[in-house]
Amino acid sequence: MFDKFFKPQSVAVVGASARPGKIGNSILVNIVNYGFTGEIYPINPEAGEILGLKAYPSLSAVPDNIDLVVICVPPVAVPGVIEDCGRKNVNSVLIITAGFKEIGHEGAKLERDIVKRMKELGIRSIGPNCVGLVSTEAKLNVTFASSQAQARQGNIGFFSQSGALCVAILDWAMLQGIGFSKFISLGNKADINETDMLVALGEDPQTQVILGYIESVDDGARFMQAAERISQHKPIILAKSGGTAAGAKAASSHTGALAGSEQAFKAAFKQTGIIRANSIEQLFDYAMAFSYMPVPEGNSIAILTNSGGPGIIAADAVEHSMLKMASLLKDTIDGLRPKLPSTAALYNPVDIIGDGDHERYRIALDALLKDDNVNNILVILTPTATARSAEVAKVLVSSTAQTKKPIAATFIGGYSIADGAKILVDAKIPFYPFPERAVDAMDRLVFYKSHKDRVASRTEPYPVEPKTVDKLFAEALEKHHNELGETEARAVIQAYGFRVPKSILATSVEHAAKVANEIGYPVVMKIASPDILHKSDIGGVKVGVGSPEEVRETYHQLVVNAVRRMPNAEILGVLVQEMVKGGKEVILGMKRDPQFGPMVMFGLGGIYVEVLKDVSFRIAPFTVEDAREMVNEIRSAALLRGFRGEKPVDMDAIVECLMRLSQLVVDFRNIIELDINPLIVFPKGVQPIALDARLAIERPEEAVGTKIWKRGGRF
Ligand code: COA
Repeated sequence: MFDKFFKPQSVAVVGASARPGKIGNSILVNIVNYGFTGEIYPINPEAGEILGLKAYPSLSAVPDNIDLVVICVPPVAVPGVIEDCGRKNVNSVLIITAGFKEIGHEGAKLERDIVKRMKELGIRSIGPNCVGLVSTEAKLNVTFASSQAQARQGNIGFFSQSGALCVAILDWAMLQGIGFSKFISLGNKADINETDMLVALGEDPQTQVILGYIESVDDGARFMQAAERISQHKPIILAKSGGTAAGAKAASSHTGALAGSEQAFKAAFKQTGIIRANSIEQLFDYAMAFSYMPVPEGNSIAILTNSGGPGIIAADAVEHSMLKMASLLKDTIDGLRPKLPSTAALYNPVDIIGDGDHERYRIALDALLKDDNVNNILVILTPTATARSAEVAKVLVSSTAQTKKPIAATFIGGYSIADGAKILVDAKIPFYPFPERAVDAMDRLVFYKSHKDRVASRTEPYPVEPKTVDKLFAEALEKHHNELGETEARAVIQAYGFRVPKSILATSVEHAAKVANEIGYPVVMKIASPDILHKSDIGGVKVGVGSPEEVRETYHQLVVNAVRRMPNAEILGVLVQEMVKGGKEVILGMKRDPQFGPMVMFGLGGIYVEVLKDVSFRIAPFTVEDAREMVNEIRSAALLRGFRGEKPVDMDAIVECLMRLSQLVVDFRNIIELDINPLIVFPKGVQPIALDARLAIERPEEAVGTKIWKRGGRF
């Protein structure tokens, strides 16, 4: 489908203009100047000639077939042009025109109307409200970007939801010598969207690195499927803006309060191996790293420098990354010792000291390239009278030609390093002005490598009881309850294999005393009401109730508290529950994200969970490896691994609970929010136990039906 966009034999520009300064003129100038060898048809009511090309009054007047139509006429004229495309059997259209969805109601309607009509006519379109596209392979530049910023041929396929960013990145790339295979401004993505483009670039042989800027994703499940498959063979680097806590509004569970759309994107990117750029600067830095450097064999890095400070800064940055400082082989150190001054540092960072010249750089770099313990190299230069940047840059150029190890350069300075920087840029050696940025970019190469190497194990679904859950949901909906009470919520998770404490609903004081005897002392007592969600807040929970007398007293007290604080609440009685001793509290939860579907949360439990926000998220369904990462990536994971002689908790048991929860929320798409809080976890040998659970479901008629991501699936 994208051949007509990327490799058209003929292009018509509707709205082509002879008047310089008009968009219809700039586009035509770019097409001609960039060297497109196919047919070019300017379309203009005045016809005549534009830029020496015969112009036609309409598409219908063109005698030949047209592969690609570019529309740059005012919005009101666009529907007419679409009809003309239909008559001419054109099926690929690029709409530059602005004035659609982005301007409000009326524009949105016009956009919907033209999309509907294009669908009927079998037309696929990019835009509207876009800058256009470049296909270097076809020598096609249908953009109105500055004619000075002509994309060079290269291996990056770039797409962007922001037109402004498109022209900025083109301009920057010119200066950096960065080249593109394809370059696409998506605009309003009324038809072709980010996932279509991901797939197109994933299949494009000229594209080795996919770079993009997105603000939203239309279909999270499809996006993740595509990204997961493509990132196995091509790195995907995306800048994503618009991360807000909007999703947290109106949430009634802890998970709901913590799970915003930003968290969903973070999780989706992590799971599918997408490299996230958090700023435009990072987008540029990573683009250079992935475009120029090979994926490393491993994560060890050697730093070569002529000054201590920047070497240490780089080593510090390594400390906070997935990279690790390489420990150099004895042979490397012994080989360097006689060749470098006695004051040089021979260990990593290798410091050839302030009077080092390019020969010293060559000696040290050669040694590091030969060292099998070194997977990545960062060469730092601060300009001195002896270390001339151009000479050092030439050393790098000759050395990188002979290696498969990623090598990046940081020449710190301005005026004195300009010559060297130019040599590096021309030779396609990634050049960063500061060591932290170089380390950050190289760290992302390592992340990508580790994601590619990750073998996702397939797990069989657990034998569970979905029928029980069906029944519980049906009963709740019959009673018009969207939120399940504690007893029902616990029964739901129990049906999916969670251990829950023995608990019995007591409906009178005497009944409570009787069931407490059956359960065994001490017990926990909780007010039972479908209307009271935060029981502790109203004095509705008492732990450690140790005798029949205390049970009777507590029953009374809990009911009084509830009646006083929530007079309208329906009170079913008091839940008498086995008291669990020891263990550590964690929280498991889920919130359905409108774009990505079920988003599962893990964190340390307790009342501070919303304040500390020390939680991790993944989109279900996820793998055992994802679940393990989730547990390990929270800041307080060390507390679970055993602290000051404490026994570690059973991490595998937590992973199993997460997998069971993933299964539950994938099976039941009508669960919109869920908290298992706390889940008490113990050292190996004792099964975790879910003390409390809360769960909200959607009525079938309200169901938004977010699609579920199918792992490893094709589409
Ligand atoms: N078929 C062929 N040509 C047509 C036409 C039609 N149906 N309707 C108009 N034209 C011609 C006009 O005669 C004019 O040619 P001329 O210069 O020889 O007179 C040319 O097309 C352009 O029409 P005009 O009415 O002058 O519009 P414009 O150039 O001022 O604006 C757009 C047109 C598309 C550039 C403008 O509507 C627009 O959307 N601008 C913003 C684009 C943008 O920012 N995109 C997003 C970037 S992120």
